[in-house]
Amino acid sequence: MCGIVGYIGRRQAYPVLIKGLKRLEYRGYDSAGVALITETKGLEVYKTKGKVADLEAYVEDKDVTGTVGIAHTRWATHGEPNATNAHPHISCSGNLALIHNGIIENYTVLKEALQRHGVAFKSSTDTEVLVQLIDYIQQHLKTDLLTAVRLALRQVIGAYAIAILDRNEPNQIIAARKSSPLVVGIGDDEFFLGSDASPIIEYTDKVVYLDDNDIAVLRRGAKEAEFVNFDNEKIEHDVKTVDLDLGQIEKGGYPHFMLKEIFEQPKSLRDCMRGRVNVEANNVVLSAVIDYRKELINARRYIIVACGTSWHASLIGKQLLESICQIPVEVEYASEFRYSNPVIDSRDVVIAISQSGETADTLAAIQLAKERGAFIFGICNAIGSSIPRATNTGCYIHVGPEIGVASTKAFTGQVTVLTMLALALGKARGTINNTDYVNLVRELDSIPQKMEKVLEQNDHVRDISRVFTYARNFLYLGRGYNYPVALEGALKLKEISYIHAEGYPAAEMKHGPIALIDDEMPVVVVATQNPLYDKLMSNIQEIKARNGRVIAIVTEGDEKVKALADEFVELPQTIECLEPLLSTIPLQLLAYHIAVQKGKNVDQPRNLAKSVTVE
Ligand code: F6R
Repeated sequence: MCGIVGYIGRRQAYPVLIKGLKRLEYRGYDSAGVALITETKGLEVYKTKGKVADLEAYVEDKDVTGTVGIAHTRWATHGEPNATNAHPHISCSGNLALIHNGIIENYTVLKEALQRHGVAFKSSTDTEVLVQLIDYIQQHLKTDLLTAVRLALRQVIGAYAIAILDRNEPNQIIAARKSSPLVVGIGDDEFFLGSDASPIIEYTDKVVYLDDNDIAVLRRGAKEAEFVNFDNEKIEHDVKTVDLDLGQIEKGGYPHFMLKEIFEQPKSLRDCMRGRVNVEANNVVLSAVIDYRKELINARRYIIVACGTSWHASLIGKQLLESICQIPVEVEYASEFRYSNPVIDSRDVVIAISQSGETADTLAAIQLAKERGAFIFGICNAIGSSIPRATNTGCYIHVGPEIGVASTKAFTGQVTVLTMLALALGKARGTINNTDYVNLVRELDSIPQKMEKVLEQNDHVRDISRVFTYARNFLYLGRGYNYPVALEGALKLKEISYIHAEGYPAAEMKHGPIALIDDEMPVVVVATQNPLYDKLMSNIQEIKARNGRVIAIVTEGDEKVKALADEFVELPQTIECLEPLLSTIPLQLLAYHIAVQKGKNVDQPRNLAKSVTVE
């Protein structure tokens, strides 16, 4: 939610900032803005409603010179998306410009206090209170910017990543973080700022990830960035090297990031399994399970917390862990868990799953579980993000940056890590026999190749999508391991095509949803050949008896379901618990093609943002 970029150094700042905003646009695209200390006029702020491209058009005839600046792309929380509410916000004195990602919870109290002292507000955002408060302190205490920022932030409750420019101190940017991500890039005589490393990696691979309550001071000409806390005590940070190349964050010839990421899945799963799944030795090795064997194998119960697509992966994880490891597993929405006063203690392991590693609800759930003594295991994608840093241990999914707002390759990466975790723990606990273990290791290793076969049917799925673009509602059905796949298929469709869709366990259909079925209702049924196949056949018969239109996901060579279905997509045979890794792909493609047919912005669906860093 909201992307932040900053630059100070020898280059012209504007091109660096605009390119950076484009890389962060997945975080929000309601409005965009930039503040520069220009060569002729001093502090200049340009902002507009809409996307980064709208900002570029808006500044075409403006002075965008200068070697220091900050920029922002917004996902609106407080205040409608318009130019006034766009960032940067300027203080009353006109001296300061500030950008912010997060939510200031006590902004009403602070705003009213400042208004009583004559401060006039222009926007309806929570953010503006920050810049006015810092300005007020600076004016009244006659302090420098850093002191004013330190004093102001002591009074602020909420989540923030901020960056500030001061027209009177033009050779520095000050930035700070609490519960919202912020990365400083360290170049030669230049510094960069980003909500993640993607705007930075083109210029340097040296970064510092800010911790909560850190303030960064980036001074022109300084060899090093300075970091202090609210008491002005120096903080030492290790400079980390980011291992990310530009190709990973560009479209690489695909029309959309989402399609690129769907097609990347065979490769991303190979990356995910590299060094972990060893078919020669018939083994799965996860360092976290070696290092924390005792905590993980002796737990009385696992609780998985996650949101959205990651929650769907968690439902598959529950089935894997329970069947392979014989450990009771609960799956909770992180947003509900954090307010549910859960019964949890040091005998429990909490697994937090998050692609971005920044989801506010998941972070809060971790905090609560930690306070109650649970051991925390993270499954994340974004390296160095907040969730992996808040956990005791964990596994990265290593699928590379996911930029399309609709999650695809992260889902299959999460399911793959959960499978590896179940195998490693099952072996350590002695709950899986050797034959099953070896078969599963081998089959998991062959999944990327089988995914390639599924992806070969892309044109076929596109043809199917043309038939169903008219639909206003969809049902998705699955059973067992494919029930979460049905939920995920429905989520993909609704978020990018805005068609209403529901996922159900297939047998539940007759308890209500069957009333919806008529000759206009497409029903996607995952009906692969596994022990539940005959049951699913009956469910399909029930739909056809009511003239529903069935799109079936079947196992290669299946003739029975194919004969009943209106449309079908075939999947290679695999072991039942690995089916989601294949069956989810046609559903991703179907959602993608329907959204494209309907002319929707697939990578930037309305009202959504990639990383939900607010409650
Ligand atoms: C759906 C989607 C969201 C995320 C959810 C959790 O396509 O992307 O539902 O899965 O916001 O995000 P993470 O995994 O980053 O915690």
